[in-house]
Amino acid sequence: MTTAKETRHERLVARYGRIAAQLDELYAKLTDPISRMGSAAALLHHKMPHFFWTGFYRLVDGDLIVGPYQGPLACMLLERHTGVCWAAIDRGESILVADVHAFPGHIACDGRSNSEVVVLVRDGDGEIRGVLDVDADKPAAFTPADVEGLEQIAALIYGTG
Ligand code: SME
Repeated sequence: MTTAKETRHERLVARYGRIAAQLDELYAKLTDPISRMGSAAALLHHKMPHFFWTGFYRLVDGDLIVGPYQGPLACMLLERHTGVCWAAIDRGESILVADVHAFPGHIACDGRSNSEVVVLVRDGDGEIRGVLDVDADKPAAFTPADVEGLEQIAALIYGTG
């Protein structure tokens, strides 16, 4: 029997698959990672109703600075080794946060954000070049399917997927 929850999950997985396929096609035209980030942020933000802020932070000379994004104005520079984005980099893995207010050091660029997912962007050598960060204004808006879908998309930026 298919439950309503499974159906939502399946729809979400299928939607990530379609976005990844569309980006893959667009990326054949251009390899520049910043341009690619811009297209990914725009497509994700407008196709995913639960996304309140969608974008990238890039690791440049040891600083995590804002990259292409969609949504409300965001912090331009994240204090080193503080908050969710830096935690993902320091741990070397994706982070799913159901309640950002309970996350030690969380950086609130916009007080309306309540839950968050951060996945790593790596280059072809496996070096971390930044993160893909998504916020929702609802608590616990994300599931492991979002983490997997966003990881799939982040891997397309440097063509490592
Ligand atoms: N909340 C993030 C900062 C970036 S904003 O969500 C756009 C963090 O704690 O690293």
